[in-house]
Amino acid sequence: MIGHPVAHSLSPRIHAAFGKQTGIALQYTAIDAEPAQFDARLAEFAAEGGIGANVTLPHKARAAALCTVLTERARRAGAVNTLIRTATGWEGDNTDGVGLVRDLTERHGLDLRERRTLLLGAGGAARGVAPALLDAGIGDLFIINRTPERADALADSLGQPGRIHPRYFSDVSSIGTFDLIVNATSATRVAGLPQLPVALAGPRTAAVDLSYGEVAIPFLAWARAAGAHDCVDGLGMLVEQAAESFLSWHHVRPETDGVYAEIRAHND
Ligand code: ATR
Repeated sequence: MIGHPVAHSLSPRIHAAFGKQTGIALQYTAIDAEPAQFDARLAEFAAEGGIGANVTLPHKARAAALCTVLTERARRAGAVNTLIRTATGWEGDNTDGVGLVRDLTERHGLDLRERRTLLLGAGGAARGVAPALLDAGIGDLFIINRTPERADALADSLGQPGRIHPRYFSDVSSIGTFDLIVNATSATRVAGLPQLPVALAGPRTAAVDLSYGEVAIPFLAWARAAGAHDCVDGLGMLVEQAAESFLSWHHVRPETDGVYAEIRAHND
């Protein structure tokens, strides 16, 4: 995997566990590359015989631009988290959205259909998950971002204007209650989100933070205080997107529950 920073990444552990479970010998390591070094580090990795890679922050959009082919879901997301080596260059895929939907529906037993949804953020993480949420049958999707132009751009790129509504943070008190609220901002890592009214959440709301660990605590604490029914962090999504990438590289789908439980036990 290539990212910056990568020191605390759980992905090498997850892929090592998948390799052990499926009997596939693999080497999966973390490469720390600043944005200016990304192209060169990826070329080095290819020259060393690398057959696949995960790409994480802040390189997902650059990775999409470098690929010779994109899967449909990577094209719709405009972001790549999985690279697959082909004879003619890198194929780019995005497994974040399917990973999130699988975690919410299968692990947490949530029915996403018709859920009125609020997506906070319009960066790479938001772009990665929005198409899969729409495909999973959510109801109207409201997108709020600190920089409104990016919310507009994401809404435009998703199409379906009758179903997708970009809004301002200043509108947040007057847009009603949501059945699903997804925090796809990196705000807690930076300066904290603007104050969110508790009226956004109702008794059947599921609140999801795409991060995990300490980073997810402020948003999920807000959601609990606001009375949300389900509060989910991004650890399950991380394991599920990894399984989907593993499937692309090795043509075997690993079982995820054991790995998830083991990492959860060590990180709570
Ligand atoms: P990622 O790939 O994680 O989405 P990104 O593309 O840098 O990374 O996007 C980060 C997201 O968090 C963006 O939606 C960003 O809002 P802007 O588009 O306005 O930058 C949002 N974000 C970061 N810090 C924030 C803060 N303090 N308050 C609100 N939103 C914030």
